[in-house]
Amino acid sequence: MTKFDKDSRIGFIGAGMVGKSLAVILSRNGYTVSSISSRSFNSAKSFSSLIPASKAYQDPNHVADNCDVVFITATDDSICDIAANTQWKYGQGVIHCSGVASTDVLSGAAKKGAITAAIHPLQTFSSVEDAVETLPGSTFAIEATGQMLDFLESMTVNLRGVPVYLKPNDKPLYHASVVMMGGLLTGLAGAVADMWNEFGIDQGTALKSLIPMIEGNAATLKSIGIPNAIAGPYVRGDIGTIRKHLVALSAQAPHILTVYCQMALASLPYALKKGNVSESVALDMQRLLEDFLEK
Ligand SMILES: NC(=O)c1ccc[n+]([C@@H]2O[C@H](COP(=O)([O-])OP(=O)(O)OC[C@H]3O[C@@H](n4cnc5c(N)ncnc54)[C@H](OP(=O)(O)O)[C@@H]3O)[C@@H](O)[C@H]2O)c1
Repeated sequence: MTKFDKDSRIGFIGAGMVGKSLAVILSRNGYTVSSISSRSFNSAKSFSSLIPASKAYQDPNHVADNCDVVFITATDDSICDIAANTQWKYGQGVIHCSGVASTDVLSGAAKKGAITAAIHPLQTFSSVEDAVETLPGSTFAIEATGQMLDFLESMTVNLRGVPVYLKPNDKPLYHASVVMMGGLLTGLAGAVADMWNEFGIDQGTALKSLIPMIEGNAATLKSIGIPNAIAGPYVRGDIGTIRKHLVALSAQAPHILTVYCQMALASLPYALKKGNVSESVALDMQRLLEDFLEK
C-alpha cells in the first residue's frame, strides 16, 4: 500500500498564489517539493526559483511521473481537465485546494488508480510572503480518507495549522461561509466606507477610521466570542437609535438599507442571547426592521 509522509516527493501543477505559498511553506518545513508545471512554462520556472532543488517542467506528465503526491493548484475550472488528461501512476496522491469543489472533480485521476483528496487552506493569499506568515494558525479543511487523510492531517499539524474535516456535500456551504467572511466582508467595508461620502469624507479616509474598529471586533471576537463580543444598539435595545439609522439609510443610502436590515435580523438572535434585552424588545426591533424591508 502507498505510504505518504514527509519524505514523499511532492509536485505542483498550477503556479498561482496558493501553489507557490503552500510549496514555500512545505519546503521550509522539511517537505520535498521536487517538480512544478503550469499552463505557462515561465510561471513554472518562476515558481521553481522559490524552491531550492525543485525543477520546472513544461509537461505536467513529468510532474506526475516524478512525484508521489501532486497538488493541482490551478484555477477551479481547470482541475477536472488536468485530472483527466494527466498520466497518473497507480497509488499516487492527487490533491486539489479548491474550497467549493469536492474530490469528484479528480475522478479522472481516480480512474487511473490515483488516491484523491482535497485540502483548502482557509486564508487569503495576497502575496507568498504574507501567506507564509499567516498560514500557521490557519484552518485547513480536509476532504480525504485513509492514507491521504493521515498525510494531510499530519501536514496540517506540521504547518501549525488546524485541521477540520468536510464531506463532499459540505463544500458549497462551507465555501459560502468562507466567502462571506472573506471577500464579501471586505466588499462590505468598501460599501460602508462609501457611505461617508454623504458627509464629505472619502472612502480611503473612512477606511482608515473604520479598520481599527474591524481589528477591535476581531480581537474581541477572539477573546470573548459570541454573543459577548456583540455591542451596539441591538444589545441595548435602543429602538430610537435603530429607527434613526433606518430613516437615514432610506433617505441617503437606500442601496444599503436591505443589507443593513438583513444583517441586523441575522444578528438579533445573538444580541438577544447576550441577555441585555427582553424578548418583547427584540420582537419590536425585528418588526421595525421587517417594516423597513417591506417599504
Ligand atoms: N486565492 C485564494 O485565496 C485561495 C484560497 C484557498 C484555496 N484557493 C484555491 O487554490 C487554487 C489556486 O488558486 P490561486 O488563487 O492560487 O489561483 P491563481 O493565483 O489564479 O493561479 C492559478 C494558476 O493556475 C494556472 N493554470 C490555469 N489553468 C491551468 C492549466 N490548465 N494547467 C496548469 N496550470 C493552469 C495559472 O498558470 P499560468 O500562470 O501558468 O497561466 C495560474 O498561475 C484554486 O483551486 C482555488 O480555489 C484559493
